[in-house]
Amino acid sequence: MPPPPPAHRRQTSEVYRLRRVIALTFALLLTIAILQLAQAAGDVGSQPAAAPTTTESTTTTTIAPPPACVEGDLQVLEDPNANWATLLVDTQRAIPASYSPPDLRNIADAGFPFTDGVAVRELVLADLDALRQAAAANGTPIGVLAGNRSFSRQQDLFDRRTNTLGDVEAGSRVARPGHSEHQLGTTVDLATAGALDVDQAWGASLTGQWIATNAFKYGFIISYPPESQDRTCYDYEPWHLRYVGRQLATDIIDSGLTSREYLWQLQPRPLASTTTVAPPG
Ligand code: DAL
Ligand code: ZN
Repeated sequence: MPPPPPAHRRQTSEVYRLRRVIALTFALLLTIAILQLAQAAGDVGSQPAAAPTTTESTTTTTIAPPPACVEGDLQVLEDPNANWATLLVDTQRAIPASYSPPDLRNIADAGFPFTDGVAVRELVLADLDALRQAAAANGTPIGVLAGNRSFSRQQDLFDRRTNTLGDVEAGSRVARPGHSEHQLGTTVDLATAGALDVDQAWGASLTGQWIATNAFKYGFIISYPPESQDRTCYDYEPWHLRYVGRQLATDIIDSGLTSREYLWQLQPRPLASTTTVAPPG
């Protein structure tokens, strides 16, 4: 039996073995790390640039444009108090004759001179006041000629216009009772401050231009813009603005649609929201 190696040679070979284990472990770890990096790089490279992040399928709902402007008496069933911003009235769709906003306040509460019978819903006041102040700051102060109109006042107005202008002309300028946005209590007819009347030419004035450009920032939309009667059902009215709130007004402007077209998309589907009003008699 050979004699055991001397103690110093045993120590040298143990140190050598230890070094080899460390070196092999390090090499193994390095190899694993390199493989993982390579796999990650391969994953990224193989993924299509525009790959969907989920496997859910998306469906696009296309809503047809509103019907052509026809006269009708489809009564909207949504509550105008709750749906004041989105409810759509036009020559066909109407709100009940009995509807009257519960919270009408004189425009004096929006900083305008007190004007008997000119009122809007309370929820309009703050932004109407802001619009008034911004218009004044621009050097184009505004006044309010009309606000809420009850069913019976709209009836009187419609009858008077029909008598003076005839059915067709009156129908393109004044809504039949029940069909006017004025009955919602959220709509105003504007003019230059102090003026007693307004006409289409006002739309080209400095004040009318400022309103056309800026009113949406305060939540107001011109319901009947120029050259859009086939879509809005009424002749151009640069003075007639409906309050829908700042976000919805911005969305409508961004869409490039008239408010009738835009609001049509927001009506509950299927359109079970109307009922035909029985003809009188
Ligand atoms: N002038 C608008 C159409 C109205 O009567 O409500
Ligand atoms: Zn009006």
